[in-house]
Amino acid sequence: MADHIHPIFDRLVSRNEKELFLNQKAKVFWFTGLSGSGKSTIAEAVERELFNLGHLVQVLDGDNIRTGICNNLSFSLEDRKENIRRISEVSKLMVSAGVIALNSFVSPTNDIRAYAKSIIGDADFHLIYVKASVETCEARDVKGLYEKARAGIIKGFTGIDSPFDEPTDVQLILDTESETKEESVKKAVTYIKSLI
Ligand code: ADX
Repeated sequence: MADHIHPIFDRLVSRNEKELFLNQKAKVFWFTGLSGSGKSTIAEAVERELFNLGHLVQVLDGDNIRTGICNNLSFSLEDRKENIRRISEVSKLMVSAGVIALNSFVSPTNDIRAYAKSIIGDADFHLIYVKASVETCEARDVKGLYEKARAGIIKGFTGIDSPFDEPTDVQLILDTESETKEESVKKAVTYIKSLI
């Protein structure tokens, strides 16, 4: 760390005090999966349910991250890593404010997920795999991006011509091919409630 940077965390109201104030334990729940697997749909529904139960929760996803703090980044593997680094740092600030973060990002490789975990810290990082095959996501093609990727209009699309590693070291799997949205949301809420 540069000499002229002075961490101020010891002068701030502590995370513990903020958690007591909010009556919750702050954590990061990281949803990984292909585009169209259902990550953001599930994260948004989970946010609403936890909020209704009295929790302070924040969804981070492409809509609020790639349009703002990461709007200068592409989808090269290098830029995806930078995307994940910035998201992880933002998540750490969320957690130090006592907030529960629900992060919905493709985060395509085990390396990238391990990188996020190393920044956020093992104790606060919980990986949830929103599982659906490329074939299913392509058939859904909610945003029309798979069609564009197949046509070569989008290059380096995850699952088509850019890698997606089957996640290892996962705490929870939500299989959106075999579960309804309601079932997946319920599983996620039950899991998260046991930790916050
Ligand atoms: S990540 O790989 O860096 O974690 P992120 O989750 O932020 O990706 O963004 C993925 C979203 O961006 C997808 O859901 C899709 O809507 C859009 N997108 C645009 N181009 C690509 C691409 N080449 N690969 C994957 N997703 C893309």
